[in-house]
Amino acid sequence: MNPKKNKTALITGINGQDGSYLAEYLLQQGYIVHGTKRLSSTINTGRIKHLVDYSAGTEQQGKIILHHADLTDSSSLSRVVNLCKPTEIYNLAAQSHVAVSFEEPEYTANADALGVLRLLEIIRREKNNIKLYQASTSELFGGVNKGPYDENALIDPRSPYAASKAYSYYLIKQYRMAYNIFAVNGILFNHESPRRGENFVTRKISRGISKILKGVQNHIALGNLDATRDWGHAKEYVVAMHLMMQQNKPEDYVIATGKSVTVREFINYCFNSIGIELKFSGKSEKEIGIVEKINENILNKFKDKITHVPNKGDILIRVDSKLFRPLEVESLTGNSMKAKQNLGWAAKTSIQNLAKEMVKHDLLN
Ligand code: NAP
Ligand code: GDD
Repeated sequence: MNPKKNKTALITGINGQDGSYLAEYLLQQGYIVHGTKRLSSTINTGRIKHLVDYSAGTEQQGKIILHHADLTDSSSLSRVVNLCKPTEIYNLAAQSHVAVSFEEPEYTANADALGVLRLLEIIRREKNNIKLYQASTSELFGGVNKGPYDENALIDPRSPYAASKAYSYYLIKQYRMAYNIFAVNGILFNHESPRRGENFVTRKISRGISKILKGVQNHIALGNLDATRDWGHAKEYVVAMHLMMQQNKPEDYVIATGKSVTVREFINYCFNSIGIELKFSGKSEKEIGIVEKINENILNKFKDKITHVPNKGDILIRVDSKLFRPLEVESLTGNSMKAKQNLGWAAKTSIQNLAKEMVKHDLLN
């Protein structure tokens, strides 16, 4: 008998970037997969539409089973847990945008901090040994020193988002100790993909390039180009989430590539992948990225999708001070040696290949 056959997973935030990849991965592993989505004015399930069978006239008949639930509403969470009786819950739902958390701090705390308390309380009361994965984050570390940060690094949140995730991080540890619940924090560093939300910097850049080449916009406006991040591929990171949940002992893990680059370097990797070389000049909000050179052999590979070819000297990147955050996390690099040793997990995709994949996807679609 396939030992995984009876496993039932509930993924909160299944229609987010990570939720969609995790759903695909768990289906491949033989799981029954349930997921939560929210009621919104526009249908927001683009990333999982290939996993849902709408032809049956109901979203209950596809490969995954969808339910309405909101992290701010404990009765909805409790109803869904009761309905699908999961053996594993992956809590990926969150108000996940750091800059937005400065604008909506109370909502962010309600969803990202208290939402986890609500789930833990449901699990404690159910007494069914439900395991919980909590989507924790490298934002916990804030950047007091240079890193690389491992599981023992100082927690120093620098946004309402990070403070909310720090609350839930400690709560997971406390419930694990107090009630013997199998609950783990996956402390994931930034991970991206063609499915990344459009308001995160990497996707804003890859989509911006596509829009420039299609004549829809003439430059990309960005904030802090000096920020440094450890960017990996989301498809690989969801495998680490699953591995953490299969261990004998619940423990927290840092998941990262160990290498980091600035936003400016990421921009260069993206443009270089289609044969455009930029030169940056100026400082802070006066900084601009100008076309220095064009390799037509590379650019011509996409000629069917391009309606506007930029010229040498065109300004394609501008800095807008409105996009700076009230408090910035300047630099994040992770050390995932523990994951390598205990889970046998290591990141594979280079930042150059990630940039190339995202730009290609946005140009072709
Ligand atoms: P994402 O694309 O923004 O997805 C988040 C999901 O959460 C969305 O499906 C969203 O639903 C749902 N959601 C938001 N508020 C909710 C609420 N109140 N109740 C129920 N669902 C709610 O995020 P992601 O990149 O996949 O990240 C997944 C998780 O990992 C998040 O918790 C994030 O904070 C954390 N994380 C991400 C990274 C990263 O680099 N991607 C790194 C570390 C940690 P709608 O579609 O309806 O808005
Ligand atoms: N979003 C955005 N938009 N960020 C910009 C821009 C811009 O126009 N210009 C510069 N940046 C900088 C930000 O200031 C930040 O330093 C960096 O680019 C990355 O920003 P995001 O892509 O928004 O990601 P994040 O690092 O703030 O947060 C992501 O990673 C965390 C893990 O470290 C999110 O996925 C969080 O949910 C996650 O916890």
